[in-house]
Amino acid sequence: MNSQTNFIQIISTSVANDTFVRLTLSKNADRSASLKKVLIKLALIKKELQYSFVFRHETQDITKNFSIKEGAVELEKLIGNEFWIANLFTTDRDFVFEKNKKGKINLRDGKPTFPQKPDRQHDKDKTGLIQKTTYLQELGILDDKDRVQKGKGDKYKQIKKFVEVVADLLRKNPQILADKLTGVNEQKPLRIVDMGSGKGYLTFALYDYLVNVLNLKTKVTGVEIRENLIEICNNIAANSKFENLHFEQGFIQGYELPETDILIALHACDTATDEAIAKGIKADAQLIICAPCCHKQIRKQIKNDSLLEPILNFGILKERQAEIVTDTIRALILEANGYKTKVFEFISSDHTGKNVMIVGQKRKEEVDPKVYLDKVQELKKQFGIDFHFLEKIVVI
Ligand SMILES: C[S@@+](CC[C@H](N)C(=O)[O-])C[C@H]1O[C@@H](n2cnc3c(N)ncnc32)[C@H](O)[C@@H]1O
Repeated sequence: MNSQTNFIQIISTSVANDTFVRLTLSKNADRSASLKKVLIKLALIKKELQYSFVFRHETQDITKNFSIKEGAVELEKLIGNEFWIANLFTTDRDFVFEKNKKGKINLRDGKPTFPQKPDRQHDKDKTGLIQKTTYLQELGILDDKDRVQKGKGDKYKQIKKFVEVVADLLRKNPQILADKLTGVNEQKPLRIVDMGSGKGYLTFALYDYLVNVLNLKTKVTGVEIRENLIEICNNIAANSKFENLHFEQGFIQGYELPETDILIALHACDTATDEAIAKGIKADAQLIICAPCCHKQIRKQIKNDSLLEPILNFGILKERQAEIVTDTIRALILEANGYKTKVFEFISSDHTGKNVMIVGQKRKEEVDPKVYLDKVQELKKQFGIDFHFLEKIVVI
């Protein structure tokens, strides 16, 4: 039996023994091909156990389900032919199949990264982003038959959209997960802190996606002032068996960030967003994701004696202008700190007015902060602003 046949046999045995967790195919023999990876898991579809293949292309994912028999044929075509590396995770052992340029195959195994059997229930949600529904039921978004509760449609859409945004960011920043997936025995957890986590809607959904869809070792902490919410959220996390999701009571400003890969702050009030951004920068987070809300700090300072006087005389327009200036300065300060920054609407304004998202992705290359800080000064001068809160708390 050659090594490829041997490896396929190991996969088939793990499926038959119900120890299969997931299989990842990488290193396409044709480097220019748009197909970069194939992620394979098992799912119960209409009561039948099937392979679910996600074909990960540069710009999109294509999911196809195969019967166990068809899937085995597909794997034979892919492993060692189209793809040179295959990582098989089973609850007993992890296996790595690797073919080199000379065609030599190396097969090795190690301790299991995922000793627990995954839930094989197929996604109730068609997007595949939501796997478990206990937390959505307990949060009152879904009823006990997983139907969206009356009046909760917008929140549910927002939750799924947020997970979609993060999924996309992770795909576009593969370096964030790179050291989480290397090595057979060791897997560093992805560490996420959600500042001002509130009822945790988005925190739960993100954890569910990372752990139950991507099978990633992930540690998520929600930080929130309101003690009652901490108790509620920790209970829901325990009921959902989300072992590495914890909520801690505390103020963002006083919270000592542990090592953090992704910092999140969604709708944290006014300058709490700045506090969170500053913490993320200090912790050197790879991704800083925030959706600001209530921009009071700058609004109070904007002076009407600028060129924009006609606009600023209208209350609502002044409010919008304050939002734009506040978030622009946040984006510029992130840029000055080496973050490639995007500002966009993450969900349609039909679902929530608080729909602007600022995302900073840590650059590898150095930047000249002065370029961005000069722009901050110019903007402040233009609007007669003395200071932006974030400037005061970030040391560049
Ligand atoms: C509008 S809610 C948003 C909750 C959640 N992030 C979401 O998007 O669903 C803002 C939450 O941030 C919390 N919060 C505001 N300022 C905070 C601070 N300085 N430290 C910790 N939590 C804070 C509030 O108690 C509230 O629960």
